Amino acid sequence: MKRNSLCFLFFLLLANFSYAQNTIVINADSAKTTISKHIYGHFAEHLGHGIYGGFYVGENNTKIPNTNGVRNDIVQALRKLKIPNLRWPGGCFADTYHWKDGIGPKDKRPTMVNNWWGGVTEDNSFGTHDFLNMCELLGAEPYISGNVGSGTPQELADWVQYVNFNGESPMSKLRKQNGRDSSWKVKFWGVGNEAWGCGGNMRPEYYADLYRKYTTFMSDWSNTGGLFRIASGASDADYNWTEVLMKNIPLHMLSGVAMHHYSSVEWSKKGSATDFTEEQYFKTMKSALLMDTLVSHHSAIMDKYDPGKKVALVVDEWGGWYDVEKGTNPGFLYQQNTIRDAMIAGVTLNIFNNHSDRVRMANLAQAINVLQAVILTNEEKMILTPTYHVMEMYNVHQNATLLPLKIKSNDYIVDNEKLPAVSASASKDSSGLTHISLVNIDAKKSQDISLEVKGLKYNTVSGRILTSNKLQNFNSFETPDRIKPAAFKGAVIRGSTLTVKLPPYSVVVLELK
Ligand code: AHR
Repeated sequence: MKRNSLCFLFFLLLANFSYAQNTIVINADSAKTTISKHIYGHFAEHLGHGIYGGFYVGENNTKIPNTNGVRNDIVQALRKLKIPNLRWPGGCFADTYHWKDGIGPKDKRPTMVNNWWGGVTEDNSFGTHDFLNMCELLGAEPYISGNVGSGTPQELADWVQYVNFNGESPMSKLRKQNGRDSSWKVKFWGVGNEAWGCGGNMRPEYYADLYRKYTTFMSDWSNTGGLFRIASGASDADYNWTEVLMKNIPLHMLSGVAMHHYSSVEWSKKGSATDFTEEQYFKTMKSALLMDTLVSHHSAIMDKYDPGKKVALVVDEWGGWYDVEKGTNPGFLYQQNTIRDAMIAGVTLNIFNNHSDRVRMANLAQAINVLQAVILTNEEKMILTPTYHVMEMYNVHQNATLLPLKIKSNDYIVDNEKLPAVSASASKDSSGLTHISLVNIDAKKSQDISLEVKGLKYNTVSGRILTSNKLQNFNSFETPDRIKPAAFKGAVIRGSTLTVKLPPYSVVVLELK
């Protein structure tokens, strides 16, 4: 009998060992940081069918309902997402763009060649007025990337004056002639893009000086609550870039420093967006989770020069990058979007939330028909991708108070390499609701989580889940609703803890009341 009980105990211990519970402890008492809604920003470059054939179908289009040429269905979908800001016109395109070519009568606008993206002819029919009026329709704040690479300080200063100055000036006069009386009050300005690469192949020392020069002439007309000037930032782990910028640009001239990181299987061997193995999936997730290290290290450098955290880390390009879909222009970066992309979005947004003391703005690349898009279009058809649904589920965190958490996760193991299976972030909104976003990236195993919320009382839990029966599944124009959020029943309150069972490759957002 005694021997049998011992055997049973040993069996229990073993079972517990192989199915260890993940634990999350949320500390509501130490909440102090607001998650800026601008972490949930988007990006629209003149690239492939991002603008033309994406957002913009032209004023004379009678087949697709539009407002001044901008698709109404896209506006509606992005409003539902609560899109906080939109970055434009690039990307690499920004440092080739001369904004004066995109104002005035459309039939008189000069054309140019879009050198970076497919060598196509850009007719400039979508310009400053089109973009800023579209942002008003979307209820999103515009984020303009200025041309430093092939532009001049005068050209950028004129652009700021054109869109922001309400008094009598050459640029405000021109704006009025072009049909817009009052200024748009554009707050967010990028000073060049990827200055280390397509923006001019500069060294950080040279760019830091250029930044100082350009921003000197970007007048703040004080109707924006202060221009928010963002320096072109590092690629991935180029920590020296951030160091040189922080050292050489006075804090009063700097509102944000950018950083770009894309997730892929391997940069030189990206592979298909929809046809991938578990090994390729694992590598993509490893690349996505690297964001935590990148954000932590860039933030630590910024802390040295800016301990008060005045300057924001702006991750103004992030997302998954794969081979283009077969038969499409390689310069258009058109790719499908699977549950793998939902995992990238879920873990990345958790990382941004948890670092929201420093990461106060970010832009998913890119909104429509380009890279990790939230929306794909085909003529009059439009579909929402799994990434769209994650952004929509997570928008409860916008401007909510971050609830710091500690997480102990099981490993997700492939080929003897490990990644944490579970990722999480939590916040409390202004109406008192608590939201917890959870991701299980494990491609095979469910994860049992024991969740303790300290310093908070709640009586009910509800939730939504995004998953599918295959990691490679996606929404197509034929099956647009294959992947969409559903009610989640896998969370139970047991005394002071919450137990949650997350299926493989799933994103869940819980609401506690
Ligand atoms: O998002 C596509 C491109 O990626 C952008 O134009 C550029 O900034 C980055 O290299």
